[in-house]
Amino acid sequence: MSLLKPEEGWYYKKVSKDEKMWMLIALVLCIMMFIWMVLWHVYGKQNPSSLTYRTSTTEFGKLSSAYIKQNMVGSDNGVPVVRPQPNTDVFLLAEMWRWSPVMILQKDQAYKMHISSRDVVHGLSIQPVNMNFQVYPGYDYVLEFKPTEAGEYKIVCNEFCGIGHHTMIGKIVVIEKDEDLKLYGYENFKKAPDPVATFKKEAMSETEMALQGEQVYTLKGCAACHKIDGTSQLAPSWKGLFGKDEKVLVDGKEIMVSVDESYIIESIKDPTKKVTVGFEKTPMPVFPLTDEEIDFLVAYIKTLKN
Ligand code: CUA
Repeated sequence: MSLLKPEEGWYYKKVSKDEKMWMLIALVLCIMMFIWMVLWHVYGKQNPSSLTYRTSTTEFGKLSSAYIKQNMVGSDNGVPVVRPQPNTDVFLLAEMWRWSPVMILQKDQAYKMHISSRDVVHGLSIQPVNMNFQVYPGYDYVLEFKPTEAGEYKIVCNEFCGIGHHTMIGKIVVIEKDEDLKLYGYENFKKAPDPVATFKKEAMSETEMALQGEQVYTLKGCAACHKIDGTSQLAPSWKGLFGKDEKVLVDGKEIMVSVDESYIIESIKDPTKKVTVGFEKTPMPVFPLTDEEIDFLVAYIKTLKN
């Protein structure tokens, strides 16, 4: 209902010429924009491939870790770095709270990126270019692209995915020639190292075990929460952890424990039994690790002294 009553019979009045003109212009503009929308899909080269496959978190997890194992050239802050061959399939896994792996891509070469999540819905946003996609668990989203500018691109998560959401930042580095690797501190990341021979644990030295442990740390995602630089935001840092006394909660009671081999093994196998005071809000999930991998991790943690 309007405030003022319109004049009686107003709708019988003829529409004036100017008004008709404006209506026509608006109609033509609408039709033009509609046609442009369809044309842009074909000529704009802005649309993603929109190819999606059904997968499962376990299957995609297996594919991506096998992929990383094959193509890893190094690691950056605990996240594996890969250097895929052009025109190949690349796997990017989103999980609470990291993007893995970091990729070194070649300018003007095409890649087919498979993206999926291990847990909840994440948002893939590549900065500073305007690319935004949702990443769902159980779906393999395929993004075909060709980077046309060298530089460092950050992958930001733009879907709130829990307490560590703001720390979920990944990286894509696009280079033109091998020398560019130096710009990112990746000068040693030229080619994948020879595949690690399967060692017999009994015949390995502590150093070899620790090296294997470092791989487990990056490949199995420990690095998402446990940092090795002394910062403890989501979980206790592993730097200087071994041999330290920690205050933990057991059935709601605080007790002191000394971090030794058996404590670390117990914490990995049954993470909620003893929870470090201060980290009750970010409980650790159970990771499917073999006993051998756990031994490697212990050896690795031992080397991270203050
Ligand atoms: Cu992942 Cu927010």
